[in-house]
Amino acid sequence: MSKNLRGRNFLKLLDFTSEDIRYLLDLSKNFKDLKRCGVPHKYLEGKNIVLLFEKTSTRTRCAFEVAGHDLGMGVTYLDPSGSQMGHKESIADTARVLGRMYDGIEYRGFSQDLVEELAQKAGVPVWNGLTDKWHPTQMLADLLTIEEHFGQLKGLNFVYMGDARNNMANSLMIACAKMGINYTAASPKSLWTDSEIVEEAKKIAKENFSTVKLTENVDEAVKGANIIYTDIWVSMGEPKEIWKERIELLKDYQVNKDVMKKADKEAIFLHCLPSFHDENTTVGKEIAQEFKIVGLEVTDDVFESKASKVFDEAENRMHTIKAVMYATLF
Ligand code: CP
Ligand code: NVA
Repeated sequence: MSKNLRGRNFLKLLDFTSEDIRYLLDLSKNFKDLKRCGVPHKYLEGKNIVLLFEKTSTRTRCAFEVAGHDLGMGVTYLDPSGSQMGHKESIADTARVLGRMYDGIEYRGFSQDLVEELAQKAGVPVWNGLTDKWHPTQMLADLLTIEEHFGQLKGLNFVYMGDARNNMANSLMIACAKMGINYTAASPKSLWTDSEIVEEAKKIAKENFSTVKLTENVDEAVKGANIIYTDIWVSMGEPKEIWKERIELLKDYQVNKDVMKKADKEAIFLHCLPSFHDENTTVGKEIAQEFKIVGLEVTDDVFESKASKVFDEAENRMHTIKAVMYATLF
């Protein structure tokens, strides 16, 4: 299905119809095939994009950089230490300057309001590379990975375990609702997201013949689950001191072998990454020593198991981001 998304911003999935998302997923598959077959696709030659990062990143940054280069574009990376952004110049002023030089702007930062403001002022498409509220480019990669694995989206049972009010949980709830996937969050009530988002998601899900549920009961949530998803328990921008409280709250919501056993026997495990599944990171090691716990949101055996599709998912960030840039810039 052909769609015209030219000139659009990509700030949150709520701004897009299920058909738009379908179109972006199909486009992503085409780009993945071209890349796999080594067919050049410099369709955006002569254009330039800038990537603004107020928070750190591996996947999102590299996906935008490689996708931009594959499409034939010039790519500039800027962070607060290498630019005036944030400390000497407001985001609004930065946007107006960059909009005069670049054809598209990626922004990763703190508040959703900032990326929305940037988009209003920039005059060129703005793509949200993660804010505290939404992570829309990650959603396309997750949906693509699920569809590649199961050959469908509609009717699958998706379970998110962990901090159910962060950017990932919000985004996954809407992504599932839009695509007719049944979404369940298993999390302590104090970590459930705003009722406004839940109500909106339920309304969208109903239109697509699926459901949205939140529960504190892990066994009830994971029974019959096709996809078990988790994210880091403390997100970027949250203070280090919160780890103790979060571990207390979420230790019963860890994805481990028992949880996977209770899910459908063909269930897969997904995670946006980065993940604390072992002691091979500075933070992972510090936490293991302080709290006597190895593997936080997911245990290493699940992370490394055959059910884990996290590296397919990471690769798909690139193909899907390419589709977003192409659809909005071509
Ligand atoms: N999943 C994700 O957004 O990863 P990065 O923080 O490395 O970009
Ligand atoms: N919730 C995480 C997602 C990282 C991709 C964070 O915001 O740090």
